[in-house]
Amino acid sequence: MDVVRSVKSMRDIVREWKRDGEKIGFVPTMGYLHKGHISLIKALKGIVTRKVVSIFVNPIQFCPGEDFERYPRDEERDLGVCREEGVDVVFIPSTSEMYPEGFQTYVEVENISKGLCGTARPGHFRGVATVVCKLFNIIQPDVAVFGRKDAQQALLIQRMVKDLNLDVDVIVVPTVREEDGLAMSSRNMYLSPEGRRRASAIFSALRCGADVILGGERDPSCVARKIRQAMEDKVDKVEYIELRTYPGFAPMDKLAGKVLVATAVWIEGARLIDNIVVDIEAGEIEL
Ligand code: PAJ
Repeated sequence: MDVVRSVKSMRDIVREWKRDGEKIGFVPTMGYLHKGHISLIKALKGIVTRKVVSIFVNPIQFCPGEDFERYPRDEERDLGVCREEGVDVVFIPSTSEMYPEGFQTYVEVENISKGLCGTARPGHFRGVATVVCKLFNIIQPDVAVFGRKDAQQALLIQRMVKDLNLDVDVIVVPTVREEDGLAMSSRNMYLSPEGRRRASAIFSALRCGADVILGGERDPSCVARKIRQAMEDKVDKVEYIELRTYPGFAPMDKLAGKVLVATAVWIEGARLIDNIVVDIEAGEIEL
């Protein structure tokens, strides 16, 4: 396994791979890898011949005052995980390698970047789209994998790929959860044991919302209210509870079809997000 830190060396490897007819799979991450990230790498099994994971805590997707500085980092452990998963190259660029002096070009996905996480984190999705577009240009993957845990992000990347005619297949994989349902996240490590116990309320509240929908409720604000009630006393603050069409991402007056039920909450200074998709016609919940 190679660890590559410069854009030039990454490009040299990609050029050689392309010449040899290799099919490149790519998983972009911010590191501190957990089973969620690992499931993304595993999703590439059998469909590509080369696997690249990037580890880059992307400063331009953090807003002022957010956790960029304290975001957990453990390169040695991450490299061990990648080695175990048969990754060929781990791309770990520095900030100056990705954003040299004078950098001023950004990718803006206009509508999907608005609402939900885009409301409280202005500029966040511009930072995500920009860095992923750059990484796609550097690594030129045939296939790239994203997690449904960040549903808005995955939809935004799919939109960007379509709009900019990027030649990459985007795969979106289900959310990997702890035993009590909490979605795995690098940010879970911010929680004390007590906060961690409280955090299981996020998933159970979403499940409760899904049950309310499958029980026949079609008013989104009523479902959101039930979800709020189910977790209100366990979390420190509810940032949003939103119901949107999936994958259309449109707000609804009356629930129908596939519904994305998404939330962001705060516990002990950690911002945690989660979502589930309820398929009303099929009577199924996608976790
Ligand atoms: P990061 O939070 O490290 O996540 C990297 C990828 O792992 C994303 O596609 C995310 O959706 C997925 N992921 C995280 N937790 C998951 C879980 N519990 N189950 C399934 N997938 C999970 O998302 C980012 O980094 C960044 O925004 C990035 C795309 C790398 C751009 O900087």
